[in-house]
Amino acid sequence: MSETMIGVIGGSGLYEIEGLEGAEWREVTTPWGDPSDAILTGSLAGVPMAFLPRHGRGHVHDPASVPYRANIDAMKRLGVTDLVSVSACGSFREEMAPGDFVVVDQFIDRTKGRPQSFFGPGCVAHVSLAHPTCPRLAEVCAAAAEADGTKVHRGGTYLAMEGPQFSTLAESRMYREAWGADVIGMTNMPEARLAREAELCYVTVAMVTDYDSWHPDHAEVDVAEVLKVLKGNGARARALISRLPALLRDRPVPCPEGCGQALDHAVMTAPGK
Ligand code: ADE
Repeated sequence: MSETMIGVIGGSGLYEIEGLEGAEWREVTTPWGDPSDAILTGSLAGVPMAFLPRHGRGHVHDPASVPYRANIDAMKRLGVTDLVSVSACGSFREEMAPGDFVVVDQFIDRTKGRPQSFFGPGCVAHVSLAHPTCPRLAEVCAAAAEADGTKVHRGGTYLAMEGPQFSTLAESRMYREAWGADVIGMTNMPEARLAREAELCYVTVAMVTDYDSWHPDHAEVDVAEVLKVLKGNGARARALISRLPALLRDRPVPCPEGCGQALDHAVMTAPGK
């Protein structure tokens, strides 16, 4: 069997994937509680895959109540090596239009009160988050999406907001003009932090659904608009996923970007303490 196992966390609009051989919804338990849902496992073109709908089937978890630690831990336990987070987002850039994909490489975290780490009192660790996504996996995802004609933006800063309400106009302008964010969503933090602590290769593929509320020529975002664009984005996301096995089957081991060694120099607590 291949060393690679591809994990996909599906955001709004992506609740399952098709065509998995030996598909089975598996209940996985973790010390952090239950993940958002059972995890769909199987293989695609001979490569093992694990798919988790972040909000659960039926969209039952809001962004604050998604069990992020259980989700990442469950993926790690199943043996996932490469974790792709597919997420709906608003755009702060004219050129990042609804229907485009942005392969995110930076985050600004404005979430509040969500458990952010697997570590804490008793075992203290500080991983580097300077480059929070895996550039190798990012390039694979960009190439996979482009192969189906999706417009892809390589690199972009994702503003993770707490929600569940959308941003005010003042916030939207501030994130765009003063903070330099490119896209906005409610879920990819603390997910990216935890994936780094779990030493997984991780990338966010942000599917643009709207222009948030800053754009003078577009109405402010609402759920109806997001859902309308999500339908088309979901099909594009499935096309991207179907191309991943061919591109990741022979991934280098270990990942040359060092994702799998994130903890090597991060733990502060003395052994045995
Ligand atoms: N998800 C999709 N569009 C969004 C927006 N404008 N703000 C936050 N999350 C979103």
